[in-house]
Amino acid sequence: MKMPQSVRLVDVGPRDGLQNESQPIAVADKVRLVDDLSAAGLKHIEVGSFVSPRWVPQMAGSAEVFAAIRQQPGVSYSALTPNLKGLEAALEAGAREVAVFAAASEAFSQRNINCSIGESIDRFTPVLTAAREAGVKVRGYISCVLGCPYQGEVPVDQVVSVARELHALGCYEVSLGDTIGTGTPGATRTLIERVAEHVPRGQLAGHFHDTYGQALANIYASLLEGVSVFDSSVAGLGGCPYAKGATGNVATEDVLYMLNGLGIETGIDIDRLVDAGARISQVLGRENGSRVAKAILAAR
Ligand code: HMG
Ligand code: MG
Repeated sequence: MKMPQSVRLVDVGPRDGLQNESQPIAVADKVRLVDDLSAAGLKHIEVGSFVSPRWVPQMAGSAEVFAAIRQQPGVSYSALTPNLKGLEAALEAGAREVAVFAAASEAFSQRNINCSIGESIDRFTPVLTAAREAGVKVRGYISCVLGCPYQGEVPVDQVVSVARELHALGCYEVSLGDTIGTGTPGATRTLIERVAEHVPRGQLAGHFHDTYGQALANIYASLLEGVSVFDSSVAGLGGCPYAKGATGNVATEDVLYMLNGLGIETGIDIDRLVDAGARISQVLGRENGSRVAKAILAAR
């Protein structure tokens, strides 16, 4: 299989990255992050989530963030919506793309969204219907595709089954989430081959947390399998509040550097991206989680 010539990077930093922060973050800083990312050339940015504020307090201000960002033409600004209440809030905030999120592990589904996998699919059905009526695109996430923090191994069949359901419900893309970053390239390739028997490769995305340092290798493996959409967080921000010890997503800067080296088009300017990551790292008082950003900043 030929590697894709171009890749769409979805920066999930403002959502997956910031959701895990316990310190208060000003709406203005979140807005600045989103605007910096669009200025760097990102075409898809996950801005926030419309979930219970008791479960994920940091995302409570997502409507304010949507209201204040400078939406650029050709950029999709999306939000997580676990149920109809979330979808209604997202539509009200002006989101034109949303995402539902399921898990391949029953234990994680219970901890993350307080219901079984089957119940979550039942909840998503009216969300997809209402979104379609509103002309809003819906992406589908699956967590724990290469391991679960509560149950350990996750059978590939279970991922295949959830991917089929999300695709059948009408999700235009299914993002395969290695929530705890335990996956390795061989397992990643096998997973994609199996899922691609039911969902076209062009409708799959990879979402790799970098906890075990395998994310870039897993993205390379996914490219070899023809996947051309990847989720990442600028400066490697984040983690998941329901996956103890899980670190952030792979850093967007690191993925971009690798794609640039492979001659794969993304439309993203690495210097502006590095600036965006440096700024939010400073706001959070955190070390920049991107090796590439650190190298570029040190060389300036
Ligand atoms: P629940 O308690 O079962 O829901 O939570 P409920 O329907 O019984 O409602 C309980 C309360 O929540 C009610 O309020 C509802 O109004 C409110 P009360 O009457 O008690 O005051 N509520 C809401 N409020 C705002 N927005 C909503 C909403 N829905 C209900 N949409 C629920 C179920 C799904 C709501 C809850 O479990 C939840 O919010 N979970 C959030 C989980 C989350 O955001 N996790 C992180 C994102 S997923 C992730 O990071 C993985 C990913 O990156 C991929 C990967 O890496 O694996 C995507
Ligand atoms: Mg994630």
